[in-house]
Amino acid sequence: MARKTALITGSSGLVGSEAVSFLAQRGWTVHGIDNNMRGDFFGADGDTTWNLERLRREVREFEHHDLDIRDRAAIARLVRDLRPGLVFHCAAQPSHDLAAKRPFDDFEINALGTLNLLEAAREHCPESPFVFMSTNKVYGDAPNELPLVELETRWDYADEARREGIDETCRIDTSMHSLFGASKTSADLLVQEYGRYFDMPTVCFRAGCITGERHSGAELHGFISYLARAIREGRTYRIFGYLGKQVRDNIHSYDVCTAMLAFVEHPRAGAVYNVGGGRANSVSILEAGARLQELVGLPFRSEYVDEARRGDHICYITDLGRLRGDYPSWEITVSLDEVLEHVAREPAPVT
Ligand SMILES: NC(=O)c1ccc[n+]([C@@H]2O[C@H](COP(=O)([O-])OP(=O)(O)OC[C@H]3O[C@@H](n4cnc5c(N)ncnc54)[C@H](O)[C@@H]3O)[C@@H](O)[C@H]2O)c1
Repeated sequence: MARKTALITGSSGLVGSEAVSFLAQRGWTVHGIDNNMRGDFFGADGDTTWNLERLRREVREFEHHDLDIRDRAAIARLVRDLRPGLVFHCAAQPSHDLAAKRPFDDFEINALGTLNLLEAAREHCPESPFVFMSTNKVYGDAPNELPLVELETRWDYADEARREGIDETCRIDTSMHSLFGASKTSADLLVQEYGRYFDMPTVCFRAGCITGERHSGAELHGFISYLARAIREGRTYRIFGYLGKQVRDNIHSYDVCTAMLAFVEHPRAGAVYNVGGGRANSVSILEAGARLQELVGLPFRSEYVDEARRGDHICYITDLGRLRGDYPSWEITVSLDEVLEHVAREPAPVT
C-alpha cells in the first residue's frame, strides 16, 4: 500500500517531533517544517537542533524543510507539491510572557502563519484533516472565576460539580488572555471557520500543559521540563505568585498524537476539543518540585516572586468529556509520574 503523506509544522518541537516518529511508525511519509525559531525565542535552552538531528538519524521516512510559516508563497508551494493527506500544525510562538516583548512576531507566526496554512490547505488538499494545536489560553483567565479552595500544596475547585475541570463551554472573550492567548484565539477561530464555512475537516485541540522528553525546556515555556532542568543543573526556579500552589494537568506529547490520529481516522468539520492530562495527571509547582527533587536526588531551589504572571491560570484541569465522548477509544496512556521519572532521568541535550 502506498504510504500516505503528512505535513507537520513545528516538527523539531515537542509535539511536532513526537508526531514525526509516531506517524512514520504507522506508515506515513512525513514532511516537517521548522526553522528553529524556538532557539531564537528562548536562546540555547530552546534550541531544537538536537531534536532535528535525532529525527534525521532515527526516522527514514522524514524530510525536513527549513521554512518559516510566515512565508506564504513558500508554504503554498510546498502544500501544492505535497498535497498531504494530513496537516498537523504545531509551529508557534508558544510563550505568554515573550509575546508581550515580541507582539508582531507572536501574531504573525500564531495567527497569520495559521492562515497561510489554512489557505494552502483549502487550495490544495481541502479533504485532508487539518489538526491545529490550540491552547487553553483561548479561555483567557476566565477559569480563575471558579471558586477555589486552598489545600496544603495546591489550589482546587471548591465546587464538587466542577471537579473534572474546564470544558469547551467556557467563554473565550471578556477575560485576559496575554497577547499569546489572543493570537492563538485568532488562529483557533480561523481553524473553526475553515471547518464551518468551507466544510473542511479541521479541529482545534485546546491543550494545557504538554510535556515529554523531547521538550527543549526554557524558563518561559515548558513547565515540567524546565523544572527538571533547573533541579538537575542547580538553577534557582522562580515561582510567580499563587504561592506555588497553581495547578496544571499534564499530557504527554504521545497522548496528543493518539488524539490527533483518532481525529484523522474519523474527522469532523470545525471541531473543538480540550486536550489535557485530566485530574489524574494534575500537579502544582510545589508538588512537582518535591517529586522531582526526590527523583533527581538534588534539592529543589526556588525563589518566590510575589506577582503572578499576567492572565495565568490558578487551577486548570482539563475536562476531557467531549473528546472521550466523540473518541471513546482514546485514553491517557502516560501517567504524570512516568513523565516525571523520565524527565528527571533523561534530559534533552543542550546544543
Ligand atoms: N507545550 C505546551 O505545554 C503547549 C500547551 C498548549 C498548547 N501548545 C501548542 O502546541 C503546539 C506545539 O507546542 P510545543 O510545546 O511542541 O512547542 P515547541 O516550541 O516545542 O515547538 C514549536 C516548534 O515550532 C517552530 N517554529 C516556531 N515558529 C516557527 C515559524 N515561524 N516557522 C517554522 N517553525 C516555527 C519552533 O522552532 C519549534 O520547534 C504550539 O502551537 C503550542 O502553542 C503547547
